[in-house]
Amino acid sequence: MQADHLKKRSIVLAVARLEADNKLCGYVLCTSTGLNIHVAKVAVREDCRRQGIARKMMEAVLQAAATVRRAASSTLYVAVENTPAVELYKSLGFTEDSYLADYYAPGRHARRMICDLEPFKAAAAAAATPTAGGKKR
Ligand SMILES: CC(C)(COP(=O)(O)OP(=O)(O)OC[C@H]1O[C@@H](n2cnc3c(N)ncnc32)[C@H](O)[C@@H]1OP(=O)(O)O)[C@@H](O)C(=O)NCCC(=O)NCCS
Repeated sequence: MQADHLKKRSIVLAVARLEADNKLCGYVLCTSTGLNIHVAKVAVREDCRRQGIARKMMEAVLQAAATVRRAASSTLYVAVENTPAVELYKSLGFTEDSYLADYYAPGRHARRMICDLEPFKAAAAAAATPTAGGKKR
């Protein structure tokens, strides 16, 4: 998998392509507002799921947001019944900070989740630090 980052004004987009055929298999689309980056869309092609692609794209986007854009936090909305997405976000460090009844439609509720980006900033710094042997970690 290869992740490319396109940054234009307040939009951050990461896409993942399969090494085998270079075909698009997932994307993350965010909007950047001041010190916060809001995750608006995340999707991975159905036949490519459960291979860590969404996690890798999210980590890449959040590290870039924390370093290049100096963002301090990330927010998102997710449907309460969307277990794969909720579990993905929790595994990255997002926590629920509010529950929004009827957010998407009557009876379709959302969680607002938030994540402190300090660990992503630290991870990006560690990855950029040369080791004693002169190689990057
Ligand atoms: C949510 C989505 C992006 C996850 O993509 P993915 O590439 O399959 O996710 P990953 O393989 O990176 O999984 C990372 C973690 O997310 C969680 N997760 C992913 N799919 C899961 C599932 N079906 N059930 C439970 N947990 C799941 C797990 O914690 C997983 O870690 P693990 O594999 O070590 O257990 C994908 O299911 C998708 O595109 N869904 C449709 C679009 C959508 O709902 N987007 C979110 C809108 S808010």
